Amino acid sequence: MKWPATRISDSSPKSFGMYEKAAALAENGADIIHLEVGRPSFDTPEFIKDATKKALDDGMVHYGDFAGEPALREEVVRKVRKKNDLDISPDNVLVTNGLTHASYAVIMAAIDPGDEVILLEPYYPQHINKIELAGGRIVKAALNKSDNFTIDPEAVEAAITPKTKMICLVNPANPTGRVYSRKELEALADIAIRHDLLVLSDEVYEEIVYDGNMHISIASLPGMFERTFSLFAFTKAYAMDGWRLGFIVADARFMPALKKITVNDVAHVNVFIQMGAAAALAQGGEVVREMVAEDKRRRDLVCQRLNQMSGIHCPASEGTIYAFPDITTTGLSAQEIADGLLENAHVVVEAGTFYGDAGEGHIRVCFGAEPYERIDEALDRMATYFSNL
Ligand SMILES: Cc1ncc(COP(=O)(O)O)c(C=O)c1O
Repeated sequence: MKWPATRISDSSPKSFGMYEKAAALAENGADIIHLEVGRPSFDTPEFIKDATKKALDDGMVHYGDFAGEPALREEVVRKVRKKNDLDISPDNVLVTNGLTHASYAVIMAAIDPGDEVILLEPYYPQHINKIELAGGRIVKAALNKSDNFTIDPEAVEAAITPKTKMICLVNPANPTGRVYSRKELEALADIAIRHDLLVLSDEVYEEIVYDGNMHISIASLPGMFERTFSLFAFTKAYAMDGWRLGFIVADARFMPALKKITVNDVAHVNVFIQMGAAAALAQGGEVVREMVAEDKRRRDLVCQRLNQMSGIHCPASEGTIYAFPDITTTGLSAQEIADGLLENAHVVVEAGTFYGDAGEGHIRVCFGAEPYERIDEALDRMATYFSNL
């Protein structure tokens, strides 16, 4: 008997980076500080939980709408029109189990075996497995490392072949912490339009931006809505990572194919938690601002203190919950630094190379998953480690 199917054996093993090494050390009782896991440290706000409990008490326990509950899709429309500058209706919205499920549905619906998908490198690795499951091929286009990982239109143009089907964009960017400017997005849009490509736009960090940086949805640029899948989730901004809730915004002509995937894998998303998400969008402005303000306080701490350590250069993250400092002058590789920090300081960070070869010379430090004091302690330990190198 052949097991598993070729699509499983031929796709990359899902790597958890430093997580497994850290877990082994923690089993021996080490006090590990996790600056690698990309999740919010906050609790889900009470009003979101209350709206969910109410929906449960009101009997929302039966099958619902395949595209998502109408009340949630209406709130999504209001938010997307205002914040993302897209003139949409509920027919343009498909509710999913987080951004992971949204990108899975888009890739499965769009990619044929042999199709090529361009990833801007360093990239968010979890998109790769899905592209490979669909039989697609990854083609990497490096971001401009010498210019703080700006989009390099020439590198993207050079990655295009007759088989290119899609560009995968993560904005704000994980792992680099960049928020792409209108100019950078226009250059990418120009390429997508000229070569008639689809764009998967992962905007899971859209609310988490600092210092007046503006998140722009690439779908809002002229000629882009009809070729872009804009993907959002409640995961980061509302501290709802365990809830598994997100949504796709796209041209209505794409919806039947997308639903063919989601109806067959989950039928639809849990009905009563969608009422919590509707409340999040309707009343969430203030709590999101408070959480982002705390993220910024942690970003300031991390970037300032890293810059004081010898051999480290850390530009201020423009958004997300990640810093991506340059460790080149230590003379060690990204993986050697990540391993050294784990073994000597019991601090877990991810090697930049986990996000592709273009991440060499960098480590990714997450400042979103631990409280301020704990991050400060991690930085004390990191300072000792770097001063002893
Ligand atoms: C860029 C990016 N996309 C998607 C996800 C996954 O989002 P979700 O938990 O909503 O599936 C993450 C989580 O870290 C992420 O960083």
